[in-house]
Amino acid sequence: MNIIPRPSSVKLAGEGKFCFGKKTEIVCPLPAAAAVLKKCAEASAANGGGVITFVPEKTGCDYRLTVTEDGMRAEAQSVAGFMHAAATAAQLVTAYPDGVPCAVIEDSPRFKCRAVLLDVCRHFYGVPVVKKFIDAMALFKFDYLHLHLSDDQGFRLQIDGLPLLHEIGSRRSSTCGDGKEHSGYYTKEQVADIVAYAGARGIEVIPEIDVPGHMAAAIAAYPELSCSGEKTEVATWFGIHDKVLCAGKESTYDFLWKLLSETAEMFPCKYFHLGGDEVPKITWDECDLCKATMRREGLKNYEQLQGYFTNKAVKMLEKLGKTAVLWNESLYSGLVDKSAVIQYWARGAHSESTVARAVAEDGRKVIVSLCNNYYFDYPNGLTPLKKAYSFEPVLPEFGANGEDGVFGVECTLWTEHIADEKTLFERTYPRAAAVAESGWSDPAKDYADFKARLAAVLPLLDLFDIPHATIKESDPGPFARIKQLAAWGAVNQRGANKDSARNWRSIQRIPKDI
Ligand code: ACM
Ligand code: ZN
Repeated sequence: MNIIPRPSSVKLAGEGKFCFGKKTEIVCPLPAAAAVLKKCAEASAANGGGVITFVPEKTGCDYRLTVTEDGMRAEAQSVAGFMHAAATAAQLVTAYPDGVPCAVIEDSPRFKCRAVLLDVCRHFYGVPVVKKFIDAMALFKFDYLHLHLSDDQGFRLQIDGLPLLHEIGSRRSSTCGDGKEHSGYYTKEQVADIVAYAGARGIEVIPEIDVPGHMAAAIAAYPELSCSGEKTEVATWFGIHDKVLCAGKESTYDFLWKLLSETAEMFPCKYFHLGGDEVPKITWDECDLCKATMRREGLKNYEQLQGYFTNKAVKMLEKLGKTAVLWNESLYSGLVDKSAVIQYWARGAHSESTVARAVAEDGRKVIVSLCNNYYFDYPNGLTPLKKAYSFEPVLPEFGANGEDGVFGVECTLWTEHIADEKTLFERTYPRAAAVAESGWSDPAKDYADFKARLAAVLPLLDLFDIPHATIKESDPGPFARIKQLAAWGAVNQRGANKDSARNWRSIQRIPKDI
């Protein structure tokens, strides 16, 4: 049947059909699930009737949806299960306007985590856009929204104990030389609104506070956080910056505790992302306090200093009842607490072996987000739909623990070069549907079948006013691919800060012991 992600089990039940339409009655105790189907009914040109009923019921699966000639019956035991049933029902009434074939669908996900990252730092997106992003996620059964809330170009949360973070850190004076201020942050009330909106749709929000790198905006607010203490500005160019937190000052850890504890209070999700990617160690190499900490703690190199820093943050989160998630570079030190979940984005020389060891030998959980397949800020020509769809997240390097070791999948929408809502959604969809399927369905792949199902369910996004690329645009031919590739390279180069290439090279080297 035309459903994405492909369900675990579909049993067709005879020749009958359910005719949906404006007059169909929706009986559902979960308002968000009811609203999805009511919107479909209002927009329906068909003359059907019947009843769609949602019933809390033990099913032994995530949800069961039974289609008969009289209507649909959805059974589930959780908000998420009801939303998943509603998404399937909405896709079916969209894909089969002349009648949904009678069937019994029993469905459960392959992986616990099916996530999308939204970077609100490089370009800020207000609450209505975030809610729309959540609406779209719910239609494809995603269950985690990873909000990237702090970066060099902007800090996006109100933290009462550290008010300069939003007063200074949420504004940059210019973006890549355009001379226009860009600003924005979420108040506590707005965070509560986003978290509640997502929760009502079975989606949890994972906050990311990226430390100790990507901290130029926080350092602009509180210059004493850096090794030099120099006054600086919120970054106005993209690329990799070398302004990182000083790992040798006790006051850095006081700051971190205030920041993590207040953020943890706002986001009830058990998982909390600590970043840890792309940390140039250039300023640490010039800092007496960082070096004194290394001597005191018996740390041999700057990766180990990052490991020391990260473990202190992981322990703070543990005190707050949270499990840390870290980008894969955080494993380089070999010291990081094994409780942390690893997000695997870059398959570089060091990361492949460290992540492999972490999953295969240490039993760590991993979220798979390899940039070549799941970074959807990259244009369609660089990561076409087929490339995203064909990717199997249980990677050979995970060894025999692979299926258990993979906590889930996540696609990312970094927004350095996504400055408007339309582009944001068009980069996300329909490619995110491929990730939703890889995270939910069994690993069998059939691209032609996927595309046919996609064509049938995409009008649902139109109904919800969610912009998306067409299937053809998301799988461009070779000329368009080369053109988009060249343009993307140029855009990235033009947007990067002047030291970015040097900083990138510096993080590719594992530092020598000192
Ligand atoms: C990343 O893309 N730097 C996690
Ligand atoms: Zn320092």
